[in-house]
Amino acid sequence: MAYNTKRLFIFLSVFVTVYVLFPSSGDGFDESQPVELVDSKRSNMRKFRTAHSFINSVYYYKNSKSLGKNAVSIVMITDQWSHNITDLPITILAKNSTNQITATTRNQIDGMPTCRYITTVALTNVLDNPETLEIQDENGEVMLLPFQYAKTTAPSKVMICISPQFAAEQWQLFVMHVHAAKQFGAHMHIYITSIIESYYKLMLEYEKAGYITLDKWIRIKFPDPKSAYIDANPHVEWRNQAGAQTDCLMKYKEAVDYIAFFDMDDILFPKFAMNYWEEFNYMYNVRPDATALSYGRREHEFIKPSTLDEFSFMEIVGSLKSSPLVKSGKVVIRPENYNSTWIHFTWHHPKQTRFEVESPHLVHVQRPLQKNGNENIKQLWKMTFDQLNETIREMDIVSIQLDFLTMKNSSHVIQEIKDGLPDSDFYLPVVFKCYYDRFYSWAFDKKEKPEGTCPNADECHLPQRPEYPCIHSDASYFSGPKMTPISYHYATDMVWTDQIGCYQ
Ligand SMILES: *[C@@H]1O[C@H](CO)[C@@H](O)[C@H](O)[C@H]1NC(C)=O
Ligand SMILES: *[C@@H]1O[C@H](CO)[C@@H](O)[C@H](O)[C@H]1NC(C)=O
Ligand SMILES: *[C@@H]1O[C@H](CO)[C@@H](O)[C@H](O)[C@H]1NC(C)=O
Ligand SMILES: *[C@@H]1O[C@H](CO)[C@@H](O)[C@H](O)[C@H]1NC(C)=O
Ligand SMILES: *[C@@H]1O[C@H](CO)[C@@H](O)[C@H](O)[C@H]1NC(C)=O
Repeated sequence: MAYNTKRLFIFLSVFVTVYVLFPSSGDGFDESQPVELVDSKRSNMRKFRTAHSFINSVYYYKNSKSLGKNAVSIVMITDQWSHNITDLPITILAKNSTNQITATTRNQIDGMPTCRYITTVALTNVLDNPETLEIQDENGEVMLLPFQYAKTTAPSKVMICISPQFAAEQWQLFVMHVHAAKQFGAHMHIYITSIIESYYKLMLEYEKAGYITLDKWIRIKFPDPKSAYIDANPHVEWRNQAGAQTDCLMKYKEAVDYIAFFDMDDILFPKFAMNYWEEFNYMYNVRPDATALSYGRREHEFIKPSTLDEFSFMEIVGSLKSSPLVKSGKVVIRPENYNSTWIHFTWHHPKQTRFEVESPHLVHVQRPLQKNGNENIKQLWKMTFDQLNETIREMDIVSIQLDFLTMKNSSHVIQEIKDGLPDSDFYLPVVFKCYYDRFYSWAFDKKEKPEGTCPNADECHLPQRPEYPCIHSDASYFSGPKMTPISYHYATDMVWTDQIGCYQ
């Protein structure tokens, strides 16, 4: 009798757990099967009992100014619609050769509530010299976490983190930005998903010369999901740009004094000092309690040279025209003030704590005029431009031009590839039209709102050109065991490959 009561109790508790806590939606969809639920409208708010997370990076800090001793940060995306991750500490099992401890994380998310998957940082502190870090779920299931030591040194005290480039072809913007960064004392960390091969070779030369560090930004995959899932790529804000910027923050947190989160087409010309480091010191002297310096992006037009031999900073600056339109800013921060970030800034500090710099603005060169090729995007998104209204010092331009010529002349590789660089835009109008239809049209031009407002254009069709092969990032993907309430996935052994093409 007691036995039967116990059986009945077990049966009832299973029933209560399955049917009361997780009522069936009645759509016959079986969450225990590893099948994809397609939500092309990005508006299905279904909660999954086992949700999925993709881990981008795990860093260990022996001594962090802001995170403490033996700190660990996990940068990932999580499914914010299935579970409230800020309410769900992750259990980390850390072992060194003599000891073992269990730690729990504090989690924070950064970004829009309108995308299912959101950039997330989990922080905790472990023990000295960890050899392994594992995630442990509530049933004791474990997964080994690949981790790396966060950087303690960097090529410069100022790092510019450039959000991921895909189908990258506008090498002119890179050449402008990289020499400006060098002139003003910054190193650039550039994430790439895909890029025209000749442009990639150009970047490699700048990496060899110490101007930049290239990094791979990969597509998200759940290779062996073990339970139902929704693909993350169409359900994360803009290819998880915030994740890349947050990875860059966590990588250099202890290694630099300032981090600028810019796009390739956001160029800053300092106004009060000779270099960025002194410029930012000056700004923080004005507002010592600021959590970030926010630089508005003023739209600019310029004439884009079609070959590297035509490239002249004097001519480019001579052709720059300013628009009265200043778009939402990008920030420069002291890394101890930020534990995560979004595309523009972190949502964890009140708006008033950001120092909105009135001048200078970022010179935003999103829409250059081509010497060759058509100007169709100008018809789609109209803007007016007038004379240049930002301060760009002539001596800086002369020095930048000299550095450019020296670099160009001294590299055999650049001499070999320069005529293979694309002389007109191919992907820019395709991508621009797609982004416009998907997002800008209702965000800026007040057109009809699409269903579901996760800013994402993963379905954009990108045509391929055999005459301009592309280099794409790839990796070995791994899925951990089925865990409750979240299964984790990650990638290792990232590589560049010429076998994929030009895709997002
Ligand atoms: C960053 O995280 C650390 C460790 O949890 C905490 O002490 C610090 O206050 C956080 N900083 C910010 C700006 O949130
Ligand atoms: C998630 O939990 C946190 C902490 O309890 C709470 O502040 C936040 O409002 C919750 N978010 C949602 C979307 O419910
Ligand atoms: C392991 O961690 C403990 C606690 O932090 C520390 O006392 C010990 O020295 C560490 N062992 C090694 C080999 O580093
Ligand atoms: C630059 O623009 C600002 C704001 O639009 C305006 O007040 C200022 O007079 C302009 N300066 C020049 C030199 O055009
Ligand atoms: C680069 O080469 C060109 C053409 O040979 C020459 O005119 C120019 O002076 C050189 N510049 C530098 C900085 O080496």
